[in-house]
Amino acid sequence: MQKQDDKRPRILLGVSGGIAAYKSPDLVRRLVERGADVQVVMTRGACEFVSPLTFQAVSGRPVRDDIWDAEAEDAMGHIALARWADLLVVAPATAHAIGALANGLAGDLLGTVYLATAAPTWIAPAMNHAMWAHEAVQTNVRTLEQRGVRILGPAVGDQACGEHGPGRMLEPADIAAAVFEAPTTLVSQALKGVRVLVTAGPTREPIDPVRYVTNRSSGKMGYALAHAARQAGADVTLVSGPVALGVPPGVSHVSVETAEEMYSAVHERIDAADLFIGCAAVSDYRPASQSPQKIKRKAEEMSLALVRSKDTLASVAKLAGGPFTVGFAAETDNVVDHARQKLENKGVDMMAANRVGPDCGFDQETNALTVLWRGGEQTLEQAPKSVLARRLIALIAERFRHARDRNQSTNANAPA
Ligand code: C5P
Repeated sequence: MQKQDDKRPRILLGVSGGIAAYKSPDLVRRLVERGADVQVVMTRGACEFVSPLTFQAVSGRPVRDDIWDAEAEDAMGHIALARWADLLVVAPATAHAIGALANGLAGDLLGTVYLATAAPTWIAPAMNHAMWAHEAVQTNVRTLEQRGVRILGPAVGDQACGEHGPGRMLEPADIAAAVFEAPTTLVSQALKGVRVLVTAGPTREPIDPVRYVTNRSSGKMGYALAHAARQAGADVTLVSGPVALGVPPGVSHVSVETAEEMYSAVHERIDAADLFIGCAAVSDYRPASQSPQKIKRKAEEMSLALVRSKDTLASVAKLAGGPFTVGFAAETDNVVDHARQKLENKGVDMMAANRVGPDCGFDQETNALTVLWRGGEQTLEQAPKSVLARRLIALIAERFRHARDRNQSTNANAPA
């Protein structure tokens, strides 16, 4: 893990109630030795295994173990604690803690902090091998993984119960090594202070008061990008069409319905954006007119006149002094060729192209992308959308900085 702006990396260590908790003070010591600022949050179960005083001694910070502790909340409330963290590590993560995180239960401080943090979350499971193998636990682990939580281990070996199998917590040295060797895409603040505007989801174009034209977009990719940009330190505004998704923590949200509303919502805010990511599947066409009454089922045949809607992305790319622009091109064939044409025609800085078909693209949990810019391209392999979003944000941040540095040097060389 990289240090950010001379700031010590801030690690929030959640300790839940398993026997492996006796190893967690060693983990704290190793993280602190390597320059991290560690704040420990314990569950009630964890306090049965190890005294909070032990963690206080090794971390140098009072331990938080109670959401109802008025004095501790006064010093740093649970939301401030969640915002403080660069990384949340839960070690050990018991079956119960995993279940609580997977299901968004906020019954204790750890569950609350997990929901409120924009920091990447890693868990090191530790439990009996039969419990680890149980479908309920595996389902919860998969849920967390799909949400972008990194699962460390568990290791296979002798267990505290006397049995042998997968379920041992990774050794503190291995967890500490993973934290400090993490690729910068996981924890870097590559977009710190950058103002990012993201569009996501489909649009709905009304035909009459009960019917509309729309598409298969679920919004998952755009929401994952907004989340990843926030995790990378950006100030993020998400302009979204109708979707069934929760707004990522720390992200401002503007809800729209039609392509026209999306265009206006974006242009009202574009002066305050350094980076624009157009991930929405905006309806290219909308009904030429909207019937004020429900159209009756009378005629044997009817046709619907459609007119082109305004292209939000292309209009943003044309703005003089506008933001760095990133678009998406969902294609069924000749994906890269079509996407490169779109990059040029719309005048955007980057284009992320993906093939849509029954197995990938719209309304799927995973995706794969070929990202194009003038003079280069990079393929991002098939991965859950949350993982892919972090990789794409890292790449966008790199190209964004490159463009900004180039602009600054051009301006510096310009005659006065
Ligand atoms: O031309 P096409 O619709 O395939 O381009 C897709 C890209 O353009 C996406 O980034 C999408 O968000 C954006 N777009 C837009 N407004 C439209 C149509 C597409 O911003 N009306």
